[in-house]
Amino acid sequence: MVDRSLLEKAAAIVRESNYTIAFTGAGISVESGVPPFRGENGIWAKYDPRTLDLGFFHQHPLESWEVIRELFYQFFGNAKANPAHHALAALEHKGLLKSVITQNIDNLHQQAGSHEVYEFHGNSQKLICLQCGHHFVPDEIDFEKLPPLCSCGGLIKPDFIFFGENIPMDAYERSVDAAGRAEVVIVIGSTGEVMPAAQMPYLAKQNGATVIEINPGASKFTYTITDIHLAGKAGETMTELFEAVTGEKLKIAHNEK
Ligand code: APR
Repeated sequence: MVDRSLLEKAAAIVRESNYTIAFTGAGISVESGVPPFRGENGIWAKYDPRTLDLGFFHQHPLESWEVIRELFYQFFGNAKANPAHHALAALEHKGLLKSVITQNIDNLHQQAGSHEVYEFHGNSQKLICLQCGHHFVPDEIDFEKLPPLCSCGGLIKPDFIFFGENIPMDAYERSVDAAGRAEVVIVIGSTGEVMPAAQMPYLAKQNGATVIEINPGASKFTYTITDIHLAGKAGETMTELFEAVTGEKLKIAHNEK
């Protein structure tokens, strides 16, 4: 439970806002069983970030794919959206949230029912042949035969952004536009260490937005642009914020628990 007076203050600001957006990082999916990248149980503490470097992938596709399969298709391929994802989707459905800018590739915002989701780093549910451009979904890939090859012989790559790869232009432009219009940005579960994604809350702040941050720890945002730091976990805190904003209990469809 976060500080009640801070929560009420944040809820009043969201209620009054005509344009609220969310900016999410790996921390919002930790309670869905998806490990964060940084921190004590972080992915980068166990795996070499080179695995997701574009140059390394081209030179060592098998080595890269063995880690990619474990991390993104076996390990958390069946993660479920948690109450934090559902709270954001419910706020959108009530017209109280315009969009989510996410660094995550786990598709959990869409699974929870969010429609306006701008994926700065792509989505693990899409894969692409680097030779002919054919698109695949995970069910079409035989993960027993790595690296996966297209019928044209081309190497198949997950269509999420590797280090050294450009940010998808559409997601970038929509995110910049949203950050420019935002009166409030709810920043959830990000260290704020990776650019250009982490620029979005700064851009919103420069345009006069109020920054509400949900994170049990401190991030690069906390002592620079955060106006209200709700120091708690995403699931519990977003549920409390939703209920304080709307006066209603957060309902999650049972089949999505
Ligand atoms: N609820 C909310 N926040 C949490 C929780 C939780 N239950 N658990 C951890 N966090 C916070 C941590 O305190 C940390 O600030 O989530 C953040 C996770 O940090 P990162 O793993 O660095 O996630 P992120 O900022 O999204 O990383 C950005 O780095 O490797 C790249 O492409 C990758 O998108 C990723 C990018």
